[in-house]
Amino acid sequence: MHRQLSLITCAHLLATALATHQHIHRSPLETSPFDANPRAANATNEVEVIVASAWFPSWSSVPLSELSWEKYTHMVFAFAYVRQVSAGAVADLDTRVTTTNPAAISVEDAQLKEFVAHARNNNVSPLLAIGGWTGSRYFSTAVAEASRTQFVQAVLGLVTKYGLDGIDFDWEYPGQQGIGCNTVADDDSANFLAFLQQLRQENSTLVLTAAVGTNPFVGADKQPMTDVSAFAKVLDQIELMVYDAWGSEKTAGANAPLTDCPSQQSGSVTSAVDAWTAAQFPAEKIVLGLAAYGHSYNVTPAAAIGAGGLNVYPAIGGVRPAGPSDIQGDATPDACGNPPVVSGVFTFAELVSGGFLSADGQAQHNYLYDQCTQTPYVYDGDTHVLVSYDDAKSFAAKGEFIAERNLAGFAIWDVVGDHKDILVDSLYTSMNIQNCD
Ligand SMILES: *[C@@H]1O[C@H](CO)[C@@H](O)[C@H](O)[C@H]1NC(C)=O
Ligand SMILES: *[C@@H]1O[C@H](CO)[C@@H](O)[C@H](O)[C@H]1NC(C)=O
Repeated sequence: MHRQLSLITCAHLLATALATHQHIHRSPLETSPFDANPRAANATNEVEVIVASAWFPSWSSVPLSELSWEKYTHMVFAFAYVRQVSAGAVADLDTRVTTTNPAAISVEDAQLKEFVAHARNNNVSPLLAIGGWTGSRYFSTAVAEASRTQFVQAVLGLVTKYGLDGIDFDWEYPGQQGIGCNTVADDDSANFLAFLQQLRQENSTLVLTAAVGTNPFVGADKQPMTDVSAFAKVLDQIELMVYDAWGSEKTAGANAPLTDCPSQQSGSVTSAVDAWTAAQFPAEKIVLGLAAYGHSYNVTPAAAIGAGGLNVYPAIGGVRPAGPSDIQGDATPDACGNPPVVSGVFTFAELVSGGFLSADGQAQHNYLYDQCTQTPYVYDGDTHVLVSYDDAKSFAAKGEFIAERNLAGFAIWDVVGDHKDILVDSLYTSMNIQNCD
């Protein structure tokens, strides 16, 4: 049924596309710039432009020079935080903040400049993500009518100051509580749209994206909106955050299921894409967010291992085991003043360095690939740590889905979570992406 297109991406194609505002469209070009490439220069010269994106977590210790820039069209610096927006908020000005409106946004100044320089040297589009789980506290206030213009100006100021190509809004979540102490209003989504429209009016070339949940933005009634097409008019793309899908405290489950399954009936990649497209958001503006990490569970060997190997959805035996980024004994409260929670996050790279996987990203034993969710589990029988994660095989399944559904591309959370490009290379193969450099 689906026309299988050969997806072609490379930095200089992206630059051309950006100049003509076609960067998110899969544009059949009249003449292919890749005549030397036999895959691209066929009878129709049809070239699709895809988004190959990843977030860079600014707290990472990995130097910017070590990122695989050549594999990406966009790189998103995470995060700038929305600061408390009110008269007098300048009083708690952070010395790192040097935007045109320091009251509104906080960002790591020197590191962001270095990030943009690296992106430019590598012909990658640099974007800045605003928000995130801990940085969404004042989004609702910022986009409200009283401070909207101020917030628009603050964002434009950042774009100019740092020479960015665009902004990724990572508001978790409009109209809904996230971390626990965010400002929330019934008209958040309406205000967000009005804010984006004003921003778009001020600058028509700015790349505007939003990282979103599995359901469309909620309306004033707290229900997912049935028509979000107005957002598609002002946003270049949305990244679906189709991970952290399992919330049970009794059993372990898939972190990023491809489809809904009998034991996990919501939150999958497929249901998220279906929900957004049913609400009139065009598939060609949807970027699939992919997890280069998994979540840990404490599972006894008796529960973990059955006659045929690892069990799916085993009972959890105790508290969530700490991941490498969880600081042992850390009692520093979160942004809301609550005790920190153990994330149990293991990046794919940390599963390798932690001995769950060998250097080639494969598990030697205690591995299960769940055919329904199309995601793997790996288990350490000594420490009783089970991790539900994504690997080359599950990334390939998701890459095929992106191509089949003609989505805009992918965005990996996060770029340093990959190990020797095993995950991103799996997408290149499964989506038939050519790197034309
Ligand atoms: C030419 O390439 C396009 C996309 O790259 C593909 O869809 C089409 O089938 C190819 N045509 C031939 C004749 O190979
Ligand atoms: C508009 O955005 C582009 C980035 O796409 C930036 O280079 C340019 O300076 C911005 N223009 C204004 C007037 O802010």
